[in-house]
Amino acid sequence: MTIDLAIIGGTGYYHPQLMENPREITVETKYGKVPLITGRHGQKTVAFMPRHGENHQLAPHKINYRANIAALKELGTRRILSTTAVGSLTETLPPGTLVIIDQFIDLTKNREHTYFDGEDGEVWHTDFTEPYCVQLRNHLDTLLQKKGVPYGSKGTYICTEGPRYETPAEIKAYSTWGADVVGMTNVPEVTLARELGLCYATLSLVTNLAAGVSPHPLTHKEVVDMMNEKISLIRDLFMELLESIPAERHCNCWSKEDITLGGA
Ligand code: HPA
Repeated sequence: MTIDLAIIGGTGYYHPQLMENPREITVETKYGKVPLITGRHGQKTVAFMPRHGENHQLAPHKINYRANIAALKELGTRRILSTTAVGSLTETLPPGTLVIIDQFIDLTKNREHTYFDGEDGEVWHTDFTEPYCVQLRNHLDTLLQKKGVPYGSKGTYICTEGPRYETPAEIKAYSTWGADVVGMTNVPEVTLARELGLCYATLSLVTNLAAGVSPHPLTHKEVVDMMNEKISLIRDLFMELLESIPAERHCNCWSKEDITLGGA
């Protein structure tokens, strides 16, 4: 089996839709079991995984990122598109804006974040000069330009541990570091994908202004409400990307594609 495109849905994106013959499967990996849905879109094969679970039951630090990415690798996936809900640190990216993330800052504390911890006999220091697949990013950019919707073609994502939101003092500090948006899940998803040679890109939706930038306290409801408003646009975009992107990969994400995970 191969999967042309895997979609990892974040907050507010729990069901694949736009998929023919959806089938629920469980993939066993050495890091744990992963339930996901596979199906078709025209001639292409698709996998869908809601990272927080179907009922948003997994907090960001409890997600088994290693198992999720290993499961996609096991299915023969080569490309992953993910969504994340984010808070914006700047009024130039207001709620409702889509952002193609091109850099991250990692502030996570308590997550299994690598396949290369030496337990499989290998310690490997992976390059992250271009953390997100350039080909997927460029393709998203072209599609978004055509749609004429508000979006940012670049953005630095700062990943906090959560599940609490940030303090205004934290947001002020992150802003001076160059962060544009804040979320809780993109790391280590992006880094694990690269460790396994998979192309990975994230389209973030600004669901709120970050703490202290927003004139009011933050709520999960505003995040979900904004995601619900934009979810069909995001689904359509992802399927358009699947239909139009050339099968051949023009990027450097695959330099360690031949990696095998014992038992995964
Ligand atoms: N902070 C962290 N994660 C988030 C936010 C936020 O403001 N909005 C959506 N996810």
